[in-house]
Amino acid sequence: MSAEELRRRRPAALVLSGGPASVYADGAPRVDRAVFELGVPTLGICYGMQLMARDLGGRVERTGVSEFGKTELAASEGVLFAGLPRDQTVWMSHRDSVVAPPEGARVVAGSPSTPIAAFEDPERALYGVQFHPEVVHTPYGNALLKNFLYEIAGAPPTWTPATVIEEQVELIRAQVGHERVLCALSGGVDSAVAALLVHKAVGDRLTCVFVDHGLLRSGEAEQVVETFAGHFHVPLVHVDAAERFLRRLEGVDDPEEKRRRIGEEFIRVFEYEAGRLDSIRFLVQGTLYSDVIESGGTEGVAAKIKSHHNVGGLPADMSMELVEPLRLLFKDEVRRVGEELGLPERLVWRHPFPGPGLAIRIIGSVTPDRLAVVRAADAILQEEIRRAGLERELWQCFAVLPAIRSVGVQGDERTYAYPIVIRAVTSDDAMTADWARIPYDVLETISSRIINEVPEVNRVALDLSSKPPATIEWE
Ligand code: XMP
Repeated sequence: MSAEELRRRRPAALVLSGGPASVYADGAPRVDRAVFELGVPTLGICYGMQLMARDLGGRVERTGVSEFGKTELAASEGVLFAGLPRDQTVWMSHRDSVVAPPEGARVVAGSPSTPIAAFEDPERALYGVQFHPEVVHTPYGNALLKNFLYEIAGAPPTWTPATVIEEQVELIRAQVGHERVLCALSGGVDSAVAALLVHKAVGDRLTCVFVDHGLLRSGEAEQVVETFAGHFHVPLVHVDAAERFLRRLEGVDDPEEKRRRIGEEFIRVFEYEAGRLDSIRFLVQGTLYSDVIESGGTEGVAAKIKSHHNVGGLPADMSMELVEPLRLLFKDEVRRVGEELGLPERLVWRHPFPGPGLAIRIIGSVTPDRLAVVRAADAILQEEIRRAGLERELWQCFAVLPAIRSVGVQGDERTYAYPIVIRAVTSDDAMTADWARIPYDVLETISSRIINEVPEVNRVALDLSSKPPATIEWE
């Protein structure tokens, strides 16, 4: 976007976001330099900061020191860090570093391996931070963003779930007119909130279809039916397609191939069901902003991380127009909207669950037996996490079934059975995550219950990796 066009939009502030490229790479995203002359308060984050440094007379180099994960930061004075402790932990994820700030800017924070971790030029209203204030692993990140928005940019906090609902209901009505709308319910909070928003906007002109692919966790299908048909009286078609999906997954090991087949089969079943309901022009999707970013963004800027999520997952010849009322929201915001809409607490706080379900938590091929193992182990895990009151502290928590077996001993017998891996993470938006510190005694109960109650399992392991460099799911 040109500086001129930006000026016309009269933004209160600009954020130049992070991104995976090096500022020196061919085709790396750049910005019209005149943007920096607009006088609009601008915050560069990670890549954005490096871009500012490079364009404004500073220097960026590959110093040979990369930082990934938690880093200790020492902040000096400055407006961004006003009221924040001098020493704090921040989340870093970079290879290149700023080695000279923009001309006239002052360095206001550094880490042991990145001496220039933040700079400020209040006169030109330019600010940069190397770390990620937007992720939960930067504990004072929100406070820093508040300093930038409220103090520096003078932008008041007007976001409320009620205004989102009002806006979206109006937008949905304007988009849909008097047509009918179809929604694929997955049982997750995203599609649930999206469906309720649309229901609020168009009432019974919404029909929900719940394709049960047989890859859900224990008890989930029942819960969906009870909540939507029972509680909210939303017209609901429940399709039990477990056998079809399992047949399509036979002998398939590759994670992306599993996703592809599940996605394809899902569309097939869904289109068939849609075809039986006549003349529906619109389709609701619970796409979130994080999905949009991770799937390559709207401008193809962020690296394509996985072919997952709802975005772009539909065939090109799909004849329905999409209604995506959550496209600009992050998960925590969706939950607040869900609460405001009166969605039951256990659904609002349900952990995110991937569309391909347990299929991508079974490494290797998916069989009914292995599905039963991971489902039984997962049910125990969920039960104990709830009992320990940890559910809300965790972003996600689940059992993974690796494709190996190991030796154990039970009674006098040698066993050769599966391990179960516990994956539990904290996060705010799934873009970064840390492994959760579940108390040992809770882990002990989970482990012994799984080993005692699931005969095919003789070992339980815990995954201690953050994202990045690992992902939350194993496939
Ligand atoms: P990763 O594993 O990429 O996961 O760190 C980030 C978030 O996305 C979810 N996820 C998926 N969701 N279809 C989905 O609908 C998928 O194929 C898929 N793969 C991962 C994952 O559970 C986590 O919340």
